[in-house]
Formats: sequence, C-alpha cells, structure tokens
Amino acid sequence: MILVTGASGNIGKATVEFSLKNISKNKVIAMLRDENKSADLKAMGIEVRVADYKKPSSLLSAFEGIDDLLLVSSSSMDRLQDHKNVIDAAKQKGLKHIYYTSGAVSNYVTTPLMPLAASHGETEDYIKNSGLTYTIFQNSMYAETIPMYVGEGAVDSGIYFPAGEGKAAFALRTDMAEAIANAITSSGHENKTYVITGSIAYSFADIAQFLSELSGKPVTYISPEPKEYKETLKKHNVPEDGIFILSLFAKTFRHHDLEQINPAIENLLGRKPTDLKSYLKAAYFSN
Ligand SMILES: NC(=O)c1ccc[n+]([C@@H]2O[C@H](COP(=O)([O-])OP(=O)(O)OC[C@H]3O[C@@H](n4cnc5c(N)ncnc54)[C@H](OP(=O)(O)O)[C@@H]3O)[C@@H](O)[C@H]2O)c1
Repeated sequence: MILVTGASGNIGKATVEFSLKNISKNKVIAMLRDENKSADLKAMGIEVRVADYKKPSSLLSAFEGIDDLLLVSSSSMDRLQDHKNVIDAAKQKGLKHIYYTSGAVSNYVTTPLMPLAASHGETEDYIKNSGLTYTIFQNSMYAETIPMYVGEGAVDSGIYFPAGEGKAAFALRTDMAEAIANAITSSGHENKTYVITGSIAYSFADIAQFLSELSGKPVTYISPEPKEYKETLKKHNVPEDGIFILSLFAKTFRHHDLEQINPAIENLLGRKPTDLKSYLKAAYFSN
C-alpha cells in the first residue's frame, strides 16, 4: 500500500491519478491536510487520509498499514522540519520505502536559490541516514511556472525578466507526475536518485522565440538590470515577497544552476517528455 502526500496539490494529485494506470485504486491512499480539498479524490474512489506535516501524531495515524510513501516536498519556507517529521513518522511506523520530490539544482550550497533549495539537500541526507529504502526525484523547473516569470500577457507585452542568458531544462509537471507514478508503482528503483528534467535547456530568449513563432509576430525578450527590475515591479504594486521570489529565481537562472539534462524522465515515461514549444502552445494559444 502506497500513500502519496500533498495530494491536494499539483504533483501529488496528478501522481495519484497516473498511478491508477498501473495499480488498482485500493493500493493507493491520498494524504492531504485539508479535507475540504478531498472531494475529487473521493469521487474517484481513492481513500483519503488527513494529516499535517507539522503534526507528528496525525502522520503516525495516517501511516497506519502503509508500506511505501511518496513525500511531496512541503511548500512552506521552513520546510526542513516538516520533512523530518514525515521521515521520523515513517521510520517509527516501520514503512519500507520512501520516495521524495527534491529539486534539480546544480549545487545546493553555491546557488542563489540556497535559501529554498538547501532544505532539499538536507532532506535527502536525512532520508539516506534514516535507513529506509529511498528513491529521490530531483525535479527541474516546472514548465508551468513560466507564465509566473514572463506573465500571462507575454505574447503582447514581450518578456521582461532579468534571467540574462541563463537556461533551464523545463519539464511539464504532469510529465514529472507520470514518471514518478510509474516509478512508485514498479520495482527496481531502490536507493536511486533520478534527475527529472526536460530534454533540452532553454533560455528566456528561446521562450520569446517560440512565442514569436506560435503567434506569428515578434515577441521581445528584455533582461533588465536586477535593480531596475525590482523598481519596475514595485511601481506596478507587486508585493515585496513576490519581488523577492521572482528576483531570486531570475538570479538562479542567470547563475546557470537549472540547466542539468538527464534522460531519467524519458526512461521512466517510456516516451519522450512533452517539448517546451508544445507546452507554450497549449498554455498561451489554447483558446
Ligand atoms: N520544481 C519546481 O518548479 C517547483 C515549483 C514550485 C514548487 N515546487 C516544490 O514542489 C512541491 C510540489 O509542487 P506542487 O506544484 O504540487 O505544489 P502545490 O500544488 O503547492 O502542492 C503542495 C502540496 O503540499 C501540501 N502541504 C503543504 N504544507 C503541508 C503540510 N504542512 N502538511 C501537509 N501537506 C502540506 C499542500 O497542501 P494544501 O493544498 O493544503 O496547501 C499541497 O497538497 C512544492 O510543495 C514545492 O516544494 C517545485
């Protein structure tokens, strides 16, 4: 029996759904922290358990009768303790195998993304030291985050984002979920780390070029000075934490920390991952 955490979120829910292609619905349990978000999973006939990474006793109850666990990384800024709580509870309940969605950052220590990414490296170490059988998925940037960086109106406004020449091996979150579902429902992944990336790393100039080709009109890419970018966002009333996150990711792209390419996703999917241009077409031109 496998339990998937974060099942109210994008990766967790999609992984539960894709796993049903390989195993019956009575072999997978969805864990989420807010029962109000469970209706569609319940409608699919999936057992739902409610627990919070921050409440160890709720995790111990949720892990009753579970063999394997997919820990979807927490979305909170101080997530390391959340992850430790889950790993400790898994160990205490005698679970066999823990799977973890980590990040594909070239170097957790030197990257500008360190304030967020360090907890992935520390969680990986904590899992390895726990003695549990593990599989780690180091996920690259979700393609679905691109509109957050470039804006929904990028086709008309052009792209204004200080990523410089930096690239990322964007992959679709749905492809990642399908690859993860295939791994958690099959054997041969014990004590392995998979770097889950797109097949090609693309820059924001490449993204502008794809949008130009798809729209039939020129879409520009401007990479402003970071200071100018922050001031521009401020003038447009973007909240401070939004400016911080966007600037942090822009700096990480500029630092070339998200450019690793690895065939693991293709091997786990048994097909090529969706290419970025197809994603952009669906995201920007589907209506
Ligand atoms: N590779 C990338 O590009 C990228 C981008 C963004 C995030 N991430 C990371 O990947 C993770 C999964 O991505 P996603 O798109 O699926 O994120 P998401 O949609 O925000 O899902 C996160 C899930 O974690 C759950 N969660 C958060 N805190 C929890 C807690 N204390 N106890 C129990 N559950 C908790 C959320 O529950 P609620 O629904 O109740 O909030 C949600 O189900 C994120 O959490 C983040 O760590 C990666």
